[in-house]
Amino acid sequence: MQLQDAGLLKTGAYIDGKWQAADSGETTAVINPATGQSIAEVARCGHAETQQAIAAADRALADWRARPAAERSRYVRKLFDLMMAAQEDLAQLMTAEQGKPITESRGEIAYGASFLEWFAEEAKRVYGDTIPAPSADKRIVCTRQPVGVVACITPWNFPNAMLTRKIGPALASGCTVVCKPAGATPLSALAIAELADRAGIPPGVVNVLAGKTGEIGEALTSSPRVRKLTFTGSTEVGKELIRACAGTVKRTSMELGGNAPFIVFDDADLDAAVVGAIASKYRNAGQTCVCANRMLIQRGVYEEFATRLEAAVAQLRVGDGVDEQTTIGPLIDRQAADSVLEMIDDATRQGARLVIGGRRSDIGDAFIEPAILTGVTDQMRVFREEIFGPVAPLIAFDTEAEAIALANDTEFGLASYFYSRDIGRIWRVAEGLDYGIVGINEGLISNAAAPFGGMKESGNGREGSRYGMDEYLEIKYMCLGGLDR
Ligand code: SIN
Repeated sequence: MQLQDAGLLKTGAYIDGKWQAADSGETTAVINPATGQSIAEVARCGHAETQQAIAAADRALADWRARPAAERSRYVRKLFDLMMAAQEDLAQLMTAEQGKPITESRGEIAYGASFLEWFAEEAKRVYGDTIPAPSADKRIVCTRQPVGVVACITPWNFPNAMLTRKIGPALASGCTVVCKPAGATPLSALAIAELADRAGIPPGVVNVLAGKTGEIGEALTSSPRVRKLTFTGSTEVGKELIRACAGTVKRTSMELGGNAPFIVFDDADLDAAVVGAIASKYRNAGQTCVCANRMLIQRGVYEEFATRLEAAVAQLRVGDGVDEQTTIGPLIDRQAADSVLEMIDDATRQGARLVIGGRRSDIGDAFIEPAILTGVTDQMRVFREEIFGPVAPLIAFDTEAEAIALANDTEFGLASYFYSRDIGRIWRVAEGLDYGIVGINEGLISNAAAPFGGMKESGNGREGSRYGMDEYLEIKYMCLGGLDR
């Protein structure tokens, strides 16, 4: 890993505007999933350091929230500028710790930075309300004020953007943050802390520490000073966090698992559907919560779609993400690859056919060759569970009603996609899908302007967009009485 700015490789914990080691002196190795080699040793923090970070965020809150919105906006904008100026270094760091192709890492830095740009602008638009009062002697005024100290727990699949999507609106609205990145990918988050420091964001407003997940999580969820927890990760862990937050009745935003249907109707533009399927399914080697998880294909175009998709998958190139030609990097580790291989095995044992890929690559333990399974049924694990790997299961259906029923036959409700050129069908299906996000003739749905979030067990709250600010704001109602005296 060659960084132009070596100062972006940080391995300590950033608490109260200072870099520090773990109190115990312990560290954890960060492993490059492409090579299996350690690339850094990061401070392994626990309960004590988390308490320090919460105390720092709490001390910084009064001053930060009292600053004019325009001033907070300038700090967040500055962080955006610094991030874009460091795009190449941040992308190299991300590929080294996460494995994704370098072109995708560059894209993620721009995507991540776009949340800072967006929320720097939104900071200035936190409006209140006046409401007609029920009697002449009263006035009703509503203001919106920051929630307070926010805990941000982020995943390894988007180590930059999932953090900026949280700290952007938090800082813009006047909250302070304590962030815990995933153990596998702390370097991207620590680099953001370094840039926050360089942007001049006051000590204590942003705190980032990695380490013992259980201890840090317990300290964050049990603290009465932390007023909100925002989490991106699995539904299983999200449920545990919601339970843990109940003790102090914290607000939560949960971006959890998905099981996205990708429906192709007989009347679809098949070329566009294949482009969308590749983008949605194989981005980040299939490790996104919004990945197409089940491809529901109408029987009239099933064979043709499968043939065209196979030709497109054959063009994908598996390799180390640092190679500019790579389009499929490793999964996050060997266990992740094992779990995907087990799902493929479950499907083929029940009669599905592996038409391409689906084997561990010779390049390394964490690499899986991108795969397509045909003849998949709703009894197979690939239909029921989030695959989190480069495997496209194809399921045939006959009618529109059947497609909607199959699509909704899951406890998840994050992203969904469908391809059709019939305007009536487009409305019917879009309205029939129980999902927070519907891509219509489009495989890439994520951007800062749009509300990202799910229904059912995919979570609560929305990130990005103007709705994303609301998650960090409390409504305060003021009743002015006695005006006619
Ligand atoms: C996720 O997988 O959690 C986020 C994906 C995205 O923002 O597009």
